[in-house]
Parts: sequence; C-alpha cells; structure tokens
Amino acid sequence: MRERTQIGIVGAGPAGLLLSHLLHQQGIHSIIVEARSRAYVESRVRAGVLEQGSVDTLREAGLDARLRREGLVHAGIQIQIEQERHRLDLMELTGGKAITVYGQQEVVKDLIARRLADEGAILFEAEHAAIRGFEGEAPRITFTRAGAEGEIACDFIAGCDGFHGVCRPSIPESAIILYDRIYPFAWLGILAKAPPASEEVIYVNHSRGFALASMRSQEVARLHLQCRPDEDLAEWPAARIWEELHARLRTADGDTVHEGAVLEKGITGMRSFVAEPMRHGRLFLAGDAAHIVPPTGAKGMNLAIADVRVLSRALAAHYRENRSDLIDTYSQTCLKRVWRAEHFSWFMTAMLHNFPSEDGFGRRLQRSQLDYVVSSREAGRSLAENYVGLPFAA
Ligand code: PHB
Repeated sequence: MRERTQIGIVGAGPAGLLLSHLLHQQGIHSIIVEARSRAYVESRVRAGVLEQGSVDTLREAGLDARLRREGLVHAGIQIQIEQERHRLDLMELTGGKAITVYGQQEVVKDLIARRLADEGAILFEAEHAAIRGFEGEAPRITFTRAGAEGEIACDFIAGCDGFHGVCRPSIPESAIILYDRIYPFAWLGILAKAPPASEEVIYVNHSRGFALASMRSQEVARLHLQCRPDEDLAEWPAARIWEELHARLRTADGDTVHEGAVLEKGITGMRSFVAEPMRHGRLFLAGDAAHIVPPTGAKGMNLAIADVRVLSRALAAHYRENRSDLIDTYSQTCLKRVWRAEHFSWFMTAMLHNFPSEDGFGRRLQRSQLDYVVSSREAGRSLAENYVGLPFAA
C-alpha cells in the first residue's frame, strides 16, 4: 500500500486524533498510523482531568456532546494534610474557571467516532512504524499492516506516538536536548465500582505516603496510592489496597473511601521529561512524544490538546496563507506552556509525596508549603490558576 497525504500522523491517542480532526476542519488531509487496535486504544485507562481551556477547545471543535452530558464539572479540589481536609475553591479563586473530570479514553472514543464519521483515515494495527525524509522535502512513514508493507508520503509528519514511540528517537541526538527527572516512587491506581469518596478530587499528604481520590462517574471511583517504583502488583490484593486507602484518606471526622469491586489496577511510574525543540525539519512532536509530567498536576492530556491546537493553526497558516512563521515558532510557543506545566507538576509532586531520602528538614518545608497553600489566599490562587490551566495565547 502506498498513499499520499498532507500530514502523516503517528499515533492515535488524544494528540494525534484531535490534530487530525482540527486539520480536517481546516480542509487539510491527514492519515493516522497506530500500532494498536481500536479496542486497545479505547480501553487504555489514563488521566481524567480537563482544564477549562481543553474543554473550550473540544467544544469549539464540536466534540463536546457526550462530554457535556457525562463530564463532571468540579468547582474545587480538596487538599488533605494528614487527617484534615481543606477546600480550594478553584472557581472563586480564578474568577469563574473550573475543571472537568472525563476519562482520557472517553475523549479518545469520541474522537475516533467523529474521525470515522467524517471518513478520516486511521490505520489501526499498523506495526513497526518508521519515519524518514523529514530532514528534507519528502517525509515518509513506513509500516507493516496485515502482513503487507505500507508507505505514506506526506508534507509533514506529526509525532504523536507517546513517550515510547519511534518519532522522538528518530531525531539525530545532536539536534535535540532531553531533560529528564525520575521520581523515587510510583502510583498504584485502581478503578472501582464504588461511589467517589467526595464530590471533588482529594489530594492527600500523609505520613504513610500520598493518596488521591478521584472518580469517573457517580458509580466509579478512581483511586491512587503512592508506592515503590518496583512495587509488585501481585502483593496488592484488593483487601490490602482498601486498607491502605482507608489509612491515608480517613479524616479526623471519620470520612473515608467507599469500597467496591476493583475493575482495573496498575502501576504508573513518575517522571518529568522534556525534549527540546519540539520540531526537527518537517517533523513535529506533540503530546507525550515531546514531554511527560508526573500526574499529580493533572496536566498530561491538557498539554497534548494545547500542542495540537498550536500545530493545527500553524499548519493551517502554512496551507492557506503560505505563512511559515507559526511553523517556525511552534516549538517555542508550546514549550512556554510545557515548562509552566512541568514546574507546576513537579511542585505538586514535591509538595504531596513522601520522599524516601527526605530528612526532617525537608518534611517540615513540605508541611510549611502545604499549610501556606491552604491558608493564604494568594498561594491558593496561584495553585488554582495553574490547576485550571493558564489561558491560551490566541
Ligand atoms: C484522575 O482522575 O485520573 C486523576 C485526577 C487528578 C490527578 C491525576 C489523575 O492529578
């Protein structure tokens, strides 16, 4: 199979799918190449918090029908210090902004349905993707699908294939700088058939370790526990998970989590990572292919949406007005937002987790910072402004 398109997209996650849709709305053709099956990408449990600007982007793109019905709008978050919960009123602190809890795989399902309804091309189960020619004028994506070799010739390649994808490592080492930080802990996460612990997301700093109580609906809770990076899931039967969740989430007033059947469990490593620049020749990186944040700031999916918003506009200016300035500033524009989110995610991670090597001094600094954000209006406002997401430049 040989085809030609304007934009060859590697990866059918939120970044690749939304980019393809936004380009379609501008009359620009794209083809997505995805290694996994449709069923796999639609069931991958990931993050679940959408910033106000992400919700607005999905609405402007006509993708919010189910999001409006099923998304849970949260006007605040809870920060629990040992056994005491404090509420940060996001809406009041930010002059009316909120976040929406809606699982990433729901965004992916909505995007796939819409792309297919619009006759968009998504090649699922296209394995061994490789990219070539992006340093010159004739980029190509090659792959194997159903036993046959495939090739897509395109004007530009969008590398939306995640942290472990092939696009970023295809850039010559001398042309890219990688910033990386790995944290000495991970998250053990479950989905449970149980009502959420509270109406709002709860972040817990506890001497036993960080915990997080979120949700996917009124019937499904999403819960996380800080654990060791090499933690063995087999050592965590449901009873032990619930015991630990109760120990970390219980308040002095006796509030805790509601138990239910564990539908899914997994361990997520925690890292901060940025590749600079996010463009090399005719290759653009977007989403996790270019940067990773630890999930404590709930920024991952939002950064992917922000990147492709900038990229779709840059490509539209190129095709419609023959302008290259937005293509040339793509990396710089994205990285400004990326580094703000990197800082915020690192800050939330550092404030809320137990660092195994930390001494009493570090622990007291952390407690002081926590007390500050829940008691100072200005500190709370700064956290809230970052949490709901900074506005888009244009
Ligand atoms: C989630 O609901 O999955 C979630 C919420 C907040 C976070 C991370 C994940 O910071």
